[in-house]
Amino acid sequence: MFPQHVIALKRDGRELSPAEIEAFVRGATDGSWMDYQLSAMLMAIYLNGMTADEVAAYTEAMMNSGVVADLSDVPGIKVDKHSTGGVGDKVSLPLAAMVTACGVPVPMISGRGLGHSGGTLDKLESIPGFNVNLSLPDYAKQVAQVGCALIGQTKDLAPSDKKLYALRDVTATVECIPLICGSIMSKKLAEGIDALVLDVKFGRGAFMKEIEAARELASTMVGIGQAMGKGVRALLTAMDQPLGRAVGNAVEVVESVACLRGEGPADLMEVTYALGEEMLVLGGAADDIASARAKLEGVIADGSAAAKFGEIIAAQGGDAAVVDDPAGVLPAARQTVPLVAAKAGIVQDVDAMEVALAALRLGAGRAKAEDNVNPAVGITGLVKVGETVAEGQPLAVIHADDDESWAAAEVRLRECIKIGDTTVATPPLIAERIG
Ligand code: URA
Repeated sequence: MFPQHVIALKRDGRELSPAEIEAFVRGATDGSWMDYQLSAMLMAIYLNGMTADEVAAYTEAMMNSGVVADLSDVPGIKVDKHSTGGVGDKVSLPLAAMVTACGVPVPMISGRGLGHSGGTLDKLESIPGFNVNLSLPDYAKQVAQVGCALIGQTKDLAPSDKKLYALRDVTATVECIPLICGSIMSKKLAEGIDALVLDVKFGRGAFMKEIEAARELASTMVGIGQAMGKGVRALLTAMDQPLGRAVGNAVEVVESVACLRGEGPADLMEVTYALGEEMLVLGGAADDIASARAKLEGVIADGSAAAKFGEIIAAQGGDAAVVDDPAGVLPAARQTVPLVAAKAGIVQDVDAMEVALAALRLGAGRAKAEDNVNPAVGITGLVKVGETVAEGQPLAVIHADDDESWAAAEVRLRECIKIGDTTVATPPLIAERIG
């Protein structure tokens, strides 16, 4: 099968057979297709789209381009959660512990932050000693023993995605729903899961700015997962202002621990509970959303969710004392300076993207994949839209390691936190459920 023949079919708007799609994905994995042929094919897909059958074949071929983790020794329905990424989105940390404490195994392979979007691995690595680089056999062993492992992508999982994503990045073909679905779902399905809950975010701080695009992405991913015999559900959640009150790495671990004690900010608790409810139902630990909620509240109230988080951290070499004494264990920035309100009023807006860029400027995120993040810096105590503030009251606290980055973050934050006189109605955080 010549690459140019397969590319021509897609160029002309024809539906590709599973064998043709497999040839393309194999070409990306073994190098038998040149970069210019792969790029031409990606652009043809970008311009002409893919049918549901093509997306399913593409996802399956990508998943099978590497190892598919074998968790068959782990009893129970294994359920993971994937978020399309946002600002202050630390949900994976408390959620994994809560759901595992309810008896559902959670194998979770996460990513790093890039650009405005934070990454679970960076947050976990702010816990001294925490090792996200487990081999797949060690990952499977830990899921069997502890019920959960929180690791990074290994080179064996869906290697075709690494190649194709790098080409998409430089050929203006990232924003393509079939390609995004194949990329995300192939990696998730290679984890060895039985079911998956997707948190598809929309809004200024999300990958998808409009709810319509988020809905299309969610429906396509749910369809692929179901076609491959997995239980998949998606929630569409708003990402116009940051989730919770902390943005950074160590500062988000602190907020995650508060969440595990039931003391997290209301919006973070709401999204964490909503995703957890879906996971427990899919995982067979609850018959319905209401009983799932009761179970999740139970593991917070009796301390078993927090204890499970400590167990996961210890299993991965981290300092589990973070659960009882986060401030004593986590790295701290050199200076913490409150940003105070210049006037009294009601918070009209906190632009998630601007807050993310302020955190990036502090060093909490990475502009390029090869950059390092500073675990200690970030923003805490962020006000939420609709809250009333007095003159001189802190709107946020900036954790910085130097004056220059602090000043740059301060300017951005001051501009993006808008105070006015009118009452603001915030739209529902969880907009829709799909699947
Ligand atoms: N995240 C991924 O893993 N892949 C995409 O294509 C987009 C976002």
